[in-house]
Amino acid sequence: MEGFHPGKAADMVVADRLALESKVAAIRAAGPAKLQVIADFDATLTKYWVDGRRGHSSHGLLQQDNPEFDAKRQALYEYYHPLEFSPTIPIEEKTKLMEEWWGKSHALLIEGGLSYDAIKKSVANSAVAFREGVAELLEFLEEKNVPVLIFSAGLADIIEEVLRQKLHKSFKNVKIISNRMVFNDGKLVAFKGKTIHVLNKNEHALDVAAPLHDKLGDVDGTIDDTDSVKKRTNVLLLGDHIGDLGMSDGLNYDTRVSVGFLNDNIEKSLESYGKAFDIVYLNDSPMYGVVKLVNELC
Ligand code: TMP
Repeated sequence: MEGFHPGKAADMVVADRLALESKVAAIRAAGPAKLQVIADFDATLTKYWVDGRRGHSSHGLLQQDNPEFDAKRQALYEYYHPLEFSPTIPIEEKTKLMEEWWGKSHALLIEGGLSYDAIKKSVANSAVAFREGVAELLEFLEEKNVPVLIFSAGLADIIEEVLRQKLHKSFKNVKIISNRMVFNDGKLVAFKGKTIHVLNKNEHALDVAAPLHDKLGDVDGTIDDTDSVKKRTNVLLLGDHIGDLGMSDGLNYDTRVSVGFLNDNIEKSLESYGKAFDIVYLNDSPMYGVVKLVNELC
C-alpha cells in the first residue's frame, strides 16, 4: 500500500490516509469473493457536466413523444425538486412528499403511454456520458467476479439502455436496483415492486425491488442471488451525495471504503464530504482513481 495514490492530488482529498490504507489492506486480505461494489448512477458513474451543460439523469433525459406529459412531469420536478433539498422539512414529511412525487411521475409515464422505442430514442439523444474509466472498472470487476449493484431512484430500464448504448456491452456482474417498468405491446403498463425514491434507496431495496431468487450473473459458476450478495461483507461504495452512504444500510458489512464525487458547491461541501467519505474526487474526475483502487482491493 505504500505510495498508494488513487488519483491526481489536486482532484482528490483523503482526510485520513492511515484509516484508508488499513481498510484497503483488510479488504485485500479477505479477497474478491468477499467484496461487492455498490454505486449510485447519476453524477457518480456518469459525468456531472456533459458538453458544457449539466448531464442528464435517467428521469431528466426521458422524452415521452407526448409533450403534454413531458410538461406535466417537468411541472412536478419544479415543485418537488426544491423540497427534496430543503433542509427544514422533517424526514417523515419529506419521505411522504417524495413518495407522492414518484407516484405521480410514474403514473404520468403510464398514462402518457410511454413506449420502449421512446426510451431508446431519448437515450440516443441524451446528454449522458460515463466518466472515463467506467468501462475499465466494470470489466475489471467482471473478471474478478465482483458484483456491482447500481442503486438508483431513477428508472432501471433507462439505466440499462444507457449502459447498452454508451458502453456497447452488457456486464454479467452488474445489477440495477431501481424502478423497473412492465411493458405490454411495447407500452408501459406498470412498475414492478415497491417504489424506490431518494429516501429509501438502500440495500433494503434489494429485498423489495428484486425477486428473492433474481440471479446476479453466473460468473465463473458462482451465482449470486440477493442472499449471497449479503454475504459479501466488504464494500466499495461510490456516490455523489452524503445520503448515498445509506446505500449500504441493511448490509452488516465488515469493511467499507467509500468514494464520494463532489461535483458542485465544492468550497461549501468539501469539509463534510471529507469527513463522510474515505476518498473524495473533485472537478468531475474520471474513474481512473477508482480503477487503481480496485486493483489494490482485489
Ligand atoms: P438518484 O439518481 O440519486 O437515485 O435520484 C433520482 C433523482 O431523480 C432525484 O434527484 C429526483 C429526480 N427525479 C426527476 O428528475 N424526475 C422525476 O419525475 C422523479 C420522480 C425524480
